Amino acid sequence: MNAALQVTGVTKLFGALRAVDDVSLQIAPGERRAILGTNGAGKTTLFNLIAGDEFPTRGSIRLFGQDISALPAFRRTRLGISRTYQSSRVLRGLSVRDNLFLAVRGVQTHRFSLVMPGAGDRHRLRAMELAETVRLSPRLDVAAGELSHGEQRQLEIGMALAGEPRVMLLDEPAAGLSPAERPELTRLLRQLPAEVTIVLIEHDMDVALAVADRVSVMNEGSLIFEGSPQQTSASPLVQSLYLGTIGRDDVEHH
Ligand SMILES: Nc1ncnc2c1ncn2[C@@H]1O[C@H](COP(=O)(O)OP(=O)(O)O)[C@@H](O)[C@H]1O
Ligand SMILES: [Mg+2]
Repeated sequence: MNAALQVTGVTKLFGALRAVDDVSLQIAPGERRAILGTNGAGKTTLFNLIAGDEFPTRGSIRLFGQDISALPAFRRTRLGISRTYQSSRVLRGLSVRDNLFLAVRGVQTHRFSLVMPGAGDRHRLRAMELAETVRLSPRLDVAAGELSHGEQRQLEIGMALAGEPRVMLLDEPAAGLSPAERPELTRLLRQLPAEVTIVLIEHDMDVALAVADRVSVMNEGSLIFEGSPQQTSASPLVQSLYLGTIGRDDVEHH
């Protein structure tokens, strides 16, 4: 069977900087893959390359066997890639309901080029379903700006699910959450639809290891480790690299 994502020899240069350096990885359909690494390791750039927000200097990216390396982001979205961003993109003045509705309608509008008669109601229903999936049903009428950090992250995941993606790229969903909010987010991530392939950039080792089937570690643009969660937590290489940075990142996130 084709990999959900096959990244082959991908390099991204920004001037002299190798933000991503000859990265190859293969992610199976339905897999949960965590990408770990210190700040500046190239994780978000890798997501940008997969989603089509940036284009690789070299290398190729395949989605279920199809070479998508040269496609613009909106075409990749149509083919089933969705992503969240490290900084929140929810519309703070709009309710949870309307954020989800717009996410559903945005996708549908792309697909059919106009909203079909009666589709508004269908989109409303779909928005309610998404709220249920990300545990925000009791908060439908609350303005997104009034939500807790944790709830905003739930909303972003709901919006990323709107197009029924085949592959979801989640960029640090636990960033900025309090320790008390993390278990709830972890539960939500573990309960996402099993058929959706999920790639998760995560600084919080507990969240990453609780969600992932496999873990890849990046450092200075390169992949330096891949293994199971058990192998990852037992790896001296990962420990020395990763645990050494936690203090610094905690400071940056608060
Ligand atoms: N658009 C850009 N132009 C120039 N440098 C960039 C750009 N985007 C990222 N970088 C640099 O690439 C490196 C990797 O960044 P990034 O992918 O954001 O790392 P991470 O998400 O792992 O923290 C960093 O040194 C960053 O400053
Ligand atoms: Mg990043």
